[in-house]
Amino acid sequence: MKNDIRPIGVFDSGLGGLTTVSELRRTMPEENIVYFGHPARGPNGPRSRETVRRYARQDMRVLLSRGVKMIVAACNTASASLLPEDIEKLPVPFVEVLHPAVEVAAAATRNGRIGLIGTPATIRSGAYERAMHLVNPKAQIIASPCALFVPLVENGFTAPDNEVTRLVAEQYLAQVRKSGADTLILGCTHYPVLKPVISRIMGGGVTLVDSGQEAAHAAKRCLMQYDMCNLSRTAGSVEYFVSDSTETFAENARPIVGEPVAGRAVQIDIESV
Ligand code: DGL
Repeated sequence: MKNDIRPIGVFDSGLGGLTTVSELRRTMPEENIVYFGHPARGPNGPRSRETVRRYARQDMRVLLSRGVKMIVAACNTASASLLPEDIEKLPVPFVEVLHPAVEVAAAATRNGRIGLIGTPATIRSGAYERAMHLVNPKAQIIASPCALFVPLVENGFTAPDNEVTRLVAEQYLAQVRKSGADTLILGCTHYPVLKPVISRIMGGGVTLVDSGQEAAHAAKRCLMQYDMCNLSRTAGSVEYFVSDSTETFAENARPIVGEPVAGRAVQIDIESV
């Protein structure tokens, strides 16, 4: 067995991918991680597929320049926008968030009705429906774009009792609730931050599928398959890189990763990569 101490590269438009970082650390505490968030251009959700794809390719170049051994696209919008040729060109294994979530949701549903919430671009892409059709053609997806969730998370409107967030969530989740879906895919890595609000509205009988969490499990399987695990017995480190000012990022990142980020996040000029 090889000991591969190179970091796992993780990217997203801003804070959302940090929920995936937390899951990666829970699943593989010994792995080193390099995170890249690009708040200078985020959020991705309202943008066109071609723009999101271009940004995602650039994000991956940033990570490759840091010597990562694997890339995790901790962004549903990017996962839905990248083309097979973008991924085939990569010199390292690639894990996205969409297909692992579909597999788990298909296994979890009992009545075949699966709710899906995500950014407008992810929902518009139809990528979840296509992936689900391959796994369970009979499953019905009830999709709801939630454009305001990402700005709410990016701006710290995340407390479980935040009245604004609750009202917005009630409106976004109304159709999924009415459909009787027994499973709900959180098809955006920002949304696990809002899990307490979402699960209170959906009720205990609905299984929430966290796309970032499932991607972390998929990443572990992938590293094991390619014999690329870090075999150290000590906890790995996380390096944070952002494309814009680090202050807001660090402040809002802290509750997500559960440790101080201030002073550790580094701003980089992505045009120079
Ligand atoms: N967290 C991302 C996702 O999973 C991106 C959100 C955004 O940039 O709009 O889709």
